[in-house]
Amino acid sequence: MKLFYCSDFDQMSKKAASVVASQVITKPDSILGLATGSSPLGIYRELIERYNRGEMSFKNVTTVNLDEYCGLSPDTPQSYHYFMHRNFFDYVDICHDNIHIPNGLNEDARAETARYDALLNKLGGIDLQLLGIGIDGHIGFNEPSDYFPKGTIHIELDESTIEMNSRFFQSIDEVPRYAYSMGCREIIDAKQIIFIASGKSKAEIIEKAFFGDITPKVPASLLQIVSDKVLAFCDRDALSVVIENHPEAVIGL
Ligand code: GLP
Repeated sequence: MKLFYCSDFDQMSKKAASVVASQVITKPDSILGLATGSSPLGIYRELIERYNRGEMSFKNVTTVNLDEYCGLSPDTPQSYHYFMHRNFFDYVDICHDNIHIPNGLNEDARAETARYDALLNKLGGIDLQLLGIGIDGHIGFNEPSDYFPKGTIHIELDESTIEMNSRFFQSIDEVPRYAYSMGCREIIDAKQIIFIASGKSKAEIIEKAFFGDITPKVPASLLQIVSDKVLAFCDRDALSVVIENHPEAVIGL
């Protein structure tokens, strides 16, 4: 795994966005796996700027999002549909038929997970996956568990995730208890993974994920087995524990 030191959120976003931009410029019909949360916001802003400067186009790009809350309609501000449109899709020339996000309103979990699996299968592989991490080590919404899920999952969210994500809702009671998520195995099957993390709250889990045991108790630890295709961009705060214990592993320190 290449673990790049970034001085702050802005530098992290710019460096990671450069990789995404290179991917799209060199392969205009790329399949991008996209993520939500606060971490990728700067990347989306940077990509929009590059698009506005005429440096790139998303016309032929296909996107598949990692996850979506169950029970939220696409026009609910906290839904990941809304997030993606408001923070990225509405500002670039992506073709709306090429945007894919799990349907949180489908109450038939078996049908929805099968639909998303079939879609991923049909697309034939993600070229580049953008990936953040939850403070409990989750990727997408693959929460700590006894096994690494394969295939799209319908998952009950952990209390720590509900609490952490409640900052986007009026109250913690409004946070959905369930979500759909791409499985861990599909995430690591991507040809390239851009991992991003910012802030002190991620420092301990990043050390565990990258330097601890590979265990489904820390879903992000699975990245270690595909380390050759992971480029991780983390800011100083997120890297603070790694810098203390494994400074030799950090590029650009
Ligand atoms: C949510 C998303 C994850 C994301 C995580 C971290 O739980 N499902 O994909 O990585 O939040 O979010 P943030 O970037 O806001 O810390």
